Amino acid sequence: MMHDVVIVGSGAAGLTTALALAGKLRVLVLAKGSLTGGSTAWAQGGIAAVLDAGDTFEDHIRDTMVAGAGLNRTETVEYVIERAPHAIDRLIGLGVPFNTEGPSLHLTREGGHSHRRIVHVDDATGWAVQSALLKAAEAHPDITLLPGRACIDLITGRHELRYSGSGRVWGVYALDEATGRVEAHTARATVLATGGAGRCYLFSTAPRGATGDGIAMAWRAGARVSNMEMMQFHPTCLYNLDVKNFLVTEAVRGEGGRLTIPPGHPGAGTRFMPGFDERAELAPRDIVARAIDHEIKRLGLDYVHLDISHQPADFVKGHFPTICDKLKSLGIDMTRQAIPVVPAQHYTCGGILIDLAGRTDLPGLYAVGECTESGLHGANRLASNSLLECFVFGEAAAADILDRWDAFDAPPPVRPWDESRVTNSDEEVIIKQNWTEIRRFMWNYVGIVRTTKRLERAQHRIQMLTGEVEDYYGHFRVSTDLIELRNLLQSADLIVRSALKRRESRGLHYTLDFPHMLPVARDTVLVP
Ligand code: FAD
Ligand code: SIN
Repeated sequence: MMHDVVIVGSGAAGLTTALALAGKLRVLVLAKGSLTGGSTAWAQGGIAAVLDAGDTFEDHIRDTMVAGAGLNRTETVEYVIERAPHAIDRLIGLGVPFNTEGPSLHLTREGGHSHRRIVHVDDATGWAVQSALLKAAEAHPDITLLPGRACIDLITGRHELRYSGSGRVWGVYALDEATGRVEAHTARATVLATGGAGRCYLFSTAPRGATGDGIAMAWRAGARVSNMEMMQFHPTCLYNLDVKNFLVTEAVRGEGGRLTIPPGHPGAGTRFMPGFDERAELAPRDIVARAIDHEIKRLGLDYVHLDISHQPADFVKGHFPTICDKLKSLGIDMTRQAIPVVPAQHYTCGGILIDLAGRTDLPGLYAVGECTESGLHGANRLASNSLLECFVFGEAAAADILDRWDAFDAPPPVRPWDESRVTNSDEEVIIKQNWTEIRRFMWNYVGIVRTTKRLERAQHRIQMLTGEVEDYYGHFRVSTDLIELRNLLQSADLIVRSALKRRESRGLHYTLDFPHMLPVARDTVLVP
């Protein structure tokens, strides 16, 4: 099927791009699973923007660069932050019911921010944003939404029936998850908006589909990726043996929550963050996550406590209704009790290298949102800057596609997917086994504190698994699980290779072998 533009991903980045193109071009949006299966729907804290009279762009820019440990690209940071108020206006126009305080928007606070500047919808901002974007996209006649399509690979010059020798991208091959058939969706322009690769790790706040598919597809097609070692760990994921990935928003600390040592251990009940950083619980995430990891290892804890019970019960329930309800269902009353928390993987700061218009290295291929490395986050993303990046780059990519439209050729005839691999695997257990193995060694060897030896161990395992997974992929009918496993392994490889290249500690990359930061910040760029 031929379209003007194909967008892979229906989260904040994909739908923003689609809505900005609609009215001028016909757009197809593909998503694996449901249309609300990405991280966007799970976002809690909110969206950062300078909206208060006492706040300035300069302060938001400085906070972003301080959190990012100087690895950010200044022009990107300025570009995004100066467009944030406009992005919030557009969301209000789409009907997102942000919390208000009198005539103004209510602004909450999160780690690393020197001002209150986070707009939010209670503690479930992502769901409100995802719903509003989806409603607008569903209503637009130029947008076709196709859920249940797991994209496998980009269609490039080498898939043309008559190979032209170009590195041009012409769309995607996508598995129809209901029929098991693979479709070729061609287009003049292709946009990857596939989210992060958090599921490389055993403990992650990200949804199941965060397997780095877009990053792996772009890499295989020949695009550079950057700063993949910068994996962000959120300090406060609920510690619960049944519910492994429930986030407790940073806004809990923003509204006064304290991190303490749990009962039964030396120093029980005391706050430990002031001993690590003068900003205490509101230091940037890399610092807080590392401090928690340190205390857990030092005292042999399973978790630390996050305590906001000193605030009035109505205040806590009013600010965090979703979290209160969820915790109550698990037997924790956060208005009276501390919450057990641990750090967990949360965000992929690195990704497909893009410019300010969302362009990748490959002609015809754009990328937006968490699957990219735009220069905004540097070595550590500032809280609530991620959704913002999706809105700003979604619009930027759409504007660039429209500007260049006349220069984009129509796609040539391309080869259909090779359906010769018709055998269903009789050993699905291999997929499950490999998924678990990758996630476990990434957690143990490529986590919050790294060493060269641990990274080399991880690399060795990746090399062993790569042959097995490629052999499996080459012989059996593709399934979503297999597509994801292949991409998870590819993403793990990119993370480890990048981590081995960085011979310093900066932001989220902390290694005992190179504990100091080098004087000059350099991106880790991998070239296929
Ligand atoms: P996603 O929303 O993850 O969407 C990815 C899309 O790509 C999905 O539709 C998925 O189905 C599709 N996809 C992926 N692979 C394929 C494939 N192979 N084929 C077809 N489709 C595919 N950020 C903030 O700024 N503020 C917050 O408060 C905040 N809270 C967060 C809370 C949680 C629990 C988590 C996990 C993240 C949070 N973040 C927050 C980060 C933020 O939510 C994400 O970075 C952002 O939503 C990413 O949007 P996206 O559109 O790039 O990707
Ligand atoms: C949170 O609410 O703590 C997550 C915010 C973010 O990831 O930016």
